[in-house]
Amino acid sequence: MKKIGILTSGGDAPGMNAAIRAVVRTAICSGMEVVGIERGYQGILDKSFRPMGMRSVSDIVQRGGTILRTARCADFVLDECQYRAIENMREIGMDGLVVIGGDGSFRGAQALSNKGFPTIGIPGTIDNDLAYTEFTLGFHTACNTCLEAIDKIRDTSSSHDRFTIIEVMGRHSGDIALYTGIAGGAEMIIIPEVKQTFSEIKKSLIEASQKGKTSGLVVLAEGVCTADELMKFLQRETDLSIRATVLGHQQRGGTPSMRDRMLGTQFGYHAVSLLKKDVGNRVVGISKEKIVDYDIDEALAIPRKFRKDLYKMANVVSQ
Ligand code: F6P
Repeated sequence: MKKIGILTSGGDAPGMNAAIRAVVRTAICSGMEVVGIERGYQGILDKSFRPMGMRSVSDIVQRGGTILRTARCADFVLDECQYRAIENMREIGMDGLVVIGGDGSFRGAQALSNKGFPTIGIPGTIDNDLAYTEFTLGFHTACNTCLEAIDKIRDTSSSHDRFTIIEVMGRHSGDIALYTGIAGGAEMIIIPEVKQTFSEIKKSLIEASQKGKTSGLVVLAEGVCTADELMKFLQRETDLSIRATVLGHQQRGGTPSMRDRMLGTQFGYHAVSLLKKDVGNRVVGISKEKIVDYDIDEALAIPRKFRKDLYKMANVVSQ
């Protein structure tokens, strides 16, 4: 392989820049040229290409966001767009691609690989919702960002003898809520993987208050309902003082943690080592502290994981 492309796609995640830097420098050290593609798959269709040199990735390992910009390209599910993308990449001599993104972005990588364009996926999403890898890039930093806010909210909640619902990201995956709920000492964690009715939530909070808790935190994954809906219900149905906070997009930004800088660097280095061997159609991940890779079709077919053991532990330690 002589020339490879790199793009970031879907929601940005802290650590993406560390991965870009590792891909660019590893590829150049292996004698390959690197093309940066701007704004994800849309950038391939628009031919938004720029050459990436060693110095083009200086001073970015510590930065959040993605220097290549990102986008969600709805049209990329169409065969016609995928063929056009391959044509545009081949036209400038590209013969391999690294895609950094989440589940939706990996579907695009899978389609390109299946149509004969070797593509490697790096899991970059704060949601931690790719079952084949223990962790995705950005999850650790996003959790730390939430924790900073959660700790502050706890201060004011306990001063006011109040229960606060904190809505975090995660439409289909409750991992951010689960991990930050445990690490932030939440009284309750509400996630899409464990169905709970509003009445059951109310009952648990009343029980907590009867057991002597005068304040507390409820960490809620956005996929379940909005914090506002739940707050209004609990205000109507109980005598407890209830407030709600939505942490929102701050979760996706900020300086990547040491862990995400390491993961990004290791993922990027590994992705290029595969392309160097002319291997495509793979996704990289981490398992038991080791960087691993899997066939993209097999990886995407693995059912979503959920750490029931952690959820069970959370219910005990929050008593
Ligand atoms: O997939 C990452 C993510 O941050 C989700 O947690 C969240 O639901 C979604 O993206 C938000 O997307 P947007 O930035 O398009 O509002």
